[in-house]
Order: sequence, then C-alpha cells, then structure tokens
Amino acid sequence: SGNRTFTMIKPDAVAENHTGAIIKMIEEAGFSIVALKKTLLTPERAGEFYTVHKERPFYADLCKYMSSGAIVPMILEKDNAVADFRTLIGATNPANADEGTIRKLFAKSIEANAIHGSDSDENATIEGNFFFSGTEQF
Ligand code: CMP
Repeated sequence: SGNRTFTMIKPDAVAENHTGAIIKMIEEAGFSIVALKKTLLTPERAGEFYTVHKERPFYADLCKYMSSGAIVPMILEKDNAVADFRTLIGATNPANADEGTIRKLFAKSIEANAIHGSDSDENATIEGNFFFSGTEQF
C-alpha cells in the first residue's frame, strides 16, 4: 500500500520496445502497478491532458508528439510515490538527468523524454482518472 502516482511511457520509448525494461525498473524500485494499458491519444486528447502547458511554445509540438504512437499509461503505488517516482525518472531534459535514471537511459530529447511522472498527489489523481475508470483503479 501507500501513495499513488501516475505515469505514462511515451511514444518514443514504446516504439523502441523499451516498455518491458522500463516496467522492470519501476517494479524493482518498489512500485506496484495498480492500473496499466497500451493506448493511443488523439492530438485533441493530448491537448486536453497537457492543458496546463497550453501557453508554452512547445505545446503544439508536444501534442503532435504525444499522439504520434502508442503510449503506456499506469497508476503506481508506493510510500512517497510522487517524489520517489520523479527521482527514479530523472530530470525532464535527459542532458540533466542523473546516471541510472529512466530518462538518462532511454530519453532522446527534452520532448521525447521517454516517460511522464505526476508532479503532485492532486495531479496524480487527475491524470490517473483521465485514463482509467474507477473500476480499473482497485
Ligand atoms: P513532462 O514533464 O512529462 O510533461 C510536459 C512535457 O512537455 C515534458 O515532459 C516534455 O515531454 C515536454 N517539454 C517540456 N519542456 C519542453 C521544452 N522546453 N521543449 C520541448 N518539450 C518540452
């Protein structure tokens, strides 16, 4: 048991068949998978997910990229999940990511950075509910 966070493996990492390796790192770091699927975002739904970034210069590219291929969203559980997961994935820009982090190993660029991690408990709930119904979050 513990707190929950939301993550999704992004199109670059899924397309390059890194899904299994990334999930293995997540489980070995002590996270339990509460919910998981493989799905595709339309550009409109990607835009809805990233509404918070809509005034940013990278918003249009981000929506295009996030709808360019399959993603693997997940809800994860662990004590201190949000903070510990952000440590596991590393900095947004892989150039700044610590050795051994998921982004250091798998990210291609600041945009195609392999994986998402919620930045707060509140956003973890909002983002999890975006992809998973109540009965998928037992
Ligand atoms: P994430 O932090 O998961 O959610 C916002 C995403 O926007 C981020 O990952 C990157 O994929 C992308 N992003 C953030 N900053 C930039 C940037 N400066 N240029 C391009 N993409 C960015």
